[in-house]
Amino acid sequence: MKKVIIIGASSGMGLEVAKLLLAEGCYLGVAARREDRLEALKQLAPDRVITAPIDVTKDDAPQRLRSLINDLGGMDLFFYSSGIGKQNRTLTPDIELNTVNTNGMGFTRMIGEAYRYFAEQGEGHIAAISSIAGTKGLGPAPSYSATKAFQNVYLQALEQQSNARGLKIRFTDIRPGFVDTDLLRGDFRYPMMLKPEKVARQIVNALHNKRHVAVIDWRYSILTALWRCLPRTIWRRLKL
Ligand SMILES: NC(=O)c1ccc[n+]([C@@H]2O[C@H](COP(=O)([O-])OP(=O)(O)OC[C@H]3O[C@@H](n4cnc5c(N)ncnc54)[C@H](OP(=O)(O)O)[C@@H]3O)[C@@H](O)[C@H]2O)c1
Repeated sequence: MKKVIIIGASSGMGLEVAKLLLAEGCYLGVAARREDRLEALKQLAPDRVITAPIDVTKDDAPQRLRSLINDLGGMDLFFYSSGIGKQNRTLTPDIELNTVNTNGMGFTRMIGEAYRYFAEQGEGHIAAISSIAGTKGLGPAPSYSATKAFQNVYLQALEQQSNARGLKIRFTDIRPGFVDTDLLRGDFRYPMMLKPEKVARQIVNALHNKRHVAVIDWRYSILTALWRCLPRTIWRRLKL
């Protein structure tokens, strides 16, 4: 049985992935800020789920992660699904800086602790949901797209470092398109919206297949490939 830690399991894709891994018989240590949501998840399999309140923006988050790993009796897979994101065409400072704090600082804090744990253990699997938004700078969401690009590059760097150190740590960078979760709730209607349950199934497949990068779904693979081909002179004139 696999021991899996999920950060950001209180809603959205983290919650759906947790349900699928429970159905596979995994033991889960789940964390986020909303304890009532974690408790509801625990009720699905009380003897196989332990919970911990963790806010990834706080300094004590890595120690809390270590305690959760100890309480679970170890960790084989670290699955990171915490994040925030908002459109911010007015460049409101709070939105920009909170996004950097959660998706940049929080991500680095938690992925780093998982990496150090697996480095001590000699092996493990780190998977994180970044986004297709990291492919290029997106005008409607500057800090969101920039922090997602940071996550893509950070995971790539750790994978190279891990190989160079002879560690057996696997990495899976998961990059979904628009998914119908709390993160996108609001007035704006997004195109090609994906269902979180369906995305979660593709995520679990990518984990089993030990994919390095998984763009979800195939339509977004084509879209991001086209984005990459666009020269800067065209990209900077796009009205998204
Ligand atoms: N929805 C999309 O279209 C989409 C597309 C591509 C990528 N993503 C990425 O997928 C990831 C999951 O998002 P989602 O779409 O599933 O949205 P969601 O339902 O809003 O889930 C976000 C999760 O992040 C946790 N979180 C937020 N701030 C946190 C903090 N400071 N400390 C600990 N946990 C925190 C939330 O838990 P608490 O609030 O309980 O702490 C929640 O469990 C995010 O990184 C997001 O950027 C989303």
